[in-house]
Amino acid sequence: QKDIISIRDFDRKDIEYILKLAEEMEPIARSKKKSDALSGKLLGMLFYEPSTRTRLSFEAAMKRLGGSTIGFAEAGTSSATKGENLTDTVRIVGEYSDALVIRHNMEGTARFVANIVDVPVINAGDGAGQHPTQTMLDLYTMKRILGRIDDLRIALVGDLKYGRTVHSLAYALAKFDVDVSFVSPKELKMPHEILHDLSKSGVDVYETDSIHEVLDKTDVLYVTRIQKERFPDPAEYLKIKGAYTITSKLLEGSDAIVMHPLPRIDEISHDVDNTPQGRYFEQAFYGVPVRMALLKSVIK
Ligand code: CP
Repeated sequence: QKDIISIRDFDRKDIEYILKLAEEMEPIARSKKKSDALSGKLLGMLFYEPSTRTRLSFEAAMKRLGGSTIGFAEAGTSSATKGENLTDTVRIVGEYSDALVIRHNMEGTARFVANIVDVPVINAGDGAGQHPTQTMLDLYTMKRILGRIDDLRIALVGDLKYGRTVHSLAYALAKFDVDVSFVSPKELKMPHEILHDLSKSGVDVYETDSIHEVLDKTDVLYVTRIQKERFPDPAEYLKIKGAYTITSKLLEGSDAIVMHPLPRIDEISHDVDNTPQGRYFEQAFYGVPVRMALLKSVIK
């Protein structure tokens, strides 16, 4: 692939190739081995929305491979504040760079940018749309911890309406032989068009608003934050805020591992952090080898 825009552009073989490459990258990500595979290459990073993990793990990934990064961490420090449009910005930074990573609040932005510049474009999250590199690291985490993706029972929990990580992940899981359930308050259900696409791909769609209902038949509890910034009406967010919290008590008797793309607010209690089930910090680390694999595969 030239670009990484949507997980829907990848077939199962492509995903497995990246996961295998990420495994080879892990010793380099852990500083146990050195690599100069991307020496002399420059990654342009345009973050129009806040980020900790995605931005810094891309930066770490590029540097671990001997490359460098340029860019901005928030549009407020770029000439966007003077009124420069996105097209002009990406044309300029695209000429400076060997690949571009972009995060933007508008769905479809990464695809739009890929049609403008010649260098590879990587989507680091576009509104409530897609977050394909997060999905790759989510799959890598499942495989790394549980040894497989096929035959897993996965519950996607939380804000399934606005969460781009679960939108991407649901499409990716449809390429594997898994059992997926969707757990959310009724106001934050997975969008109909995604459920429709999943059904067409052969996924048995099971929706519930009760974690208790799925807990003892789940291998992976994938929890998400309620995406406050995507609510058109802040009053609606306030009504639903704090609707669910995963605690170590809730997990008693369950073997499920708990994943979360992070950041978390209050949906996972801190008492889960040091249990064998809380795997979200490990998951966040896997962002480095997975993004190394993705960079290595697109930067020529
Ligand atoms: N998971 C994730 O996208 O985190 P950031 O918003 O910190 O990049």
